[in-house]
Amino acid sequence: ASSLLQAIEPSTDSSANDDEKTAIDWNNLGFGLMPTDYMYTMKCFKDENFTQGQLSRYGNIELSPSAGVLNYGQGLFEGTKAYRRGNGHLFLFRPDQNAIRMQNGAERMCMPSPSIEQFVDAVKQTALANRRWIPPPGKGSLYIRPLLMGSGPILGLAPASEYTFLIYASPVGIYFKEGLAPLNLYIEDEFHRASCGGAGGIKSITNYAPVLKALRRAKERGFSDVLYLDSVNKTNIEEVSSCNIFLVKDNVLSTPATNGTILKGVTRISIIDIARDLGYQVEERSIPVEELLSADEVFCTGTAVGVVPVGRITYEGRRVEYRTGSRLVSQELYSTLVGIQTGLIEDKRGWVVEI
Ligand code: COI
Repeated sequence: ASSLLQAIEPSTDSSANDDEKTAIDWNNLGFGLMPTDYMYTMKCFKDENFTQGQLSRYGNIELSPSAGVLNYGQGLFEGTKAYRRGNGHLFLFRPDQNAIRMQNGAERMCMPSPSIEQFVDAVKQTALANRRWIPPPGKGSLYIRPLLMGSGPILGLAPASEYTFLIYASPVGIYFKEGLAPLNLYIEDEFHRASCGGAGGIKSITNYAPVLKALRRAKERGFSDVLYLDSVNKTNIEEVSSCNIFLVKDNVLSTPATNGTILKGVTRISIIDIARDLGYQVEERSIPVEELLSADEVFCTGTAVGVVPVGRITYEGRRVEYRTGSRLVSQELYSTLVGIQTGLIEDKRGWVVEI
């Protein structure tokens, strides 16, 4: 199967690669796909372990029409970012957490998964091979997208016979088209994102297409994104299509507990740790929608979105406004996160991985 790939040795001359003129307007990066130079692929058969992966030129892949991922959605994805510091050094943020989340998801979806070392090494290789696409400091990052899929052919419902771990990357800036403006969220009462015992707690590809209808409907009405409620009682908040959610009330932070329907966001858990370090009380629990509506401040977290304040939420025709502007708790937390990432604040936990 790996004969599909043409192994290519990327340039190891970092100055030549970084200085190569890339016609990119670094000031206007959004979250659109900008194909880069290399991707990473590693394959293995069912009941075996991943062994050897390789970089190849970025391009289309060949897949059987009966691949498990195409027919039965046997697939996971991850998202992590590579950043450039002012001194030119390149780094990743907690890639081991993405590796662990992929392992947990793979177990749930009956797939073999790369070891933490293999995952992190592959992410590093992909970032380095595409280093000329890592934006200058403060302009954005290289979004790295690892995929794990059942690539072997299958007709009856069963785990696929072969698996592919693939990583590609794209430079990105701000996720929402509103830029840095506070989000305008819509609480969905017809569709749900996840159900108890389902796959909401892992980064399964099957969690994303089913929200597109609610998302499209909300965007057509001018909303930034959709917040989903629990599918049993429709009373507790869960998460947004693209990110986790927090509320602040009387300086106490609360976010839905990760009980199987909430994605364990890497930014989510990092912000919880940072908030506790800064002296905030943080609660992970069930949060009734009415409590959200009476919060002082609301914000979202995610690898793609970062930490972004919510300005307004609409629920059953009622519109609620939240504190925005300067001196937000979310701003303090985000500045601390960015400070750790850029080296301005000491990285006491070893979150930053230099490449
Ligand atoms: C991420 O934050 O990395 C995600 O995977 C969310 C996705 C909807 C862009």
